[in-house]
Amino acid sequence: MVCMLTMCNLQMNGNRKMSGNEEKPRMLIIHGPNLNMLGQREANWYGCATLEEIDAEIKQTAEGCGMVAETFQSNYEGALVEKIHEAMRAYDAVIINPAAYTHTSVAIRDALLMLNVPIIEVHLSNIYRREPFRHKSLIADIVTARIAGFGKDGYMMAVEAAADMLKRKCQD
Ligand code: DQA
Repeated sequence: MVCMLTMCNLQMNGNRKMSGNEEKPRMLIIHGPNLNMLGQREANWYGCATLEEIDAEIKQTAEGCGMVAETFQSNYEGALVEKIHEAMRAYDAVIINPAAYTHTSVAIRDALLMLNVPIIEVHLSNIYRREPFRHKSLIADIVTARIAGFGKDGYMMAVEAAADMLKRKCQD
């Protein structure tokens, strides 16, 4: 997927210390539990690509949008919470697929509530076509936007959308 945007000098996170205007905006992509098993896990819902392949495509897409992407995966709720804390200072946008924690984690919700950058929630599968317990997301009402059901392409859409949001912010 190729970014169709013409990037201006993107708006940076006000909390982030900049070394110079030439520094590219940074986005953090967070993957929750069991997503390290992509490629070996319920391909009918999640596709065949491994997380490593998806992360490589995310980084390439971000680069095409004039941004730098860092990816992070953990199977532990506390590790995900601590990574979100880092995003308070170090990133200009956050893309998160909390996986099973989407449906259970007040801790992840509370951590995301501390951010003042765009947050995009991504799910590989359309969670509304699945079991009723997956229909409830504890972060749906606090994120900037949501993408579900497009498989790995959803991440690339989110990267482009985040870049677009930052671009529009800098034109305000
Ligand atoms: C998921 C959907 C969740 O319900 C599930 O627990 C996952 C992945 C998705 O990307 O479709 O692990 O977040």
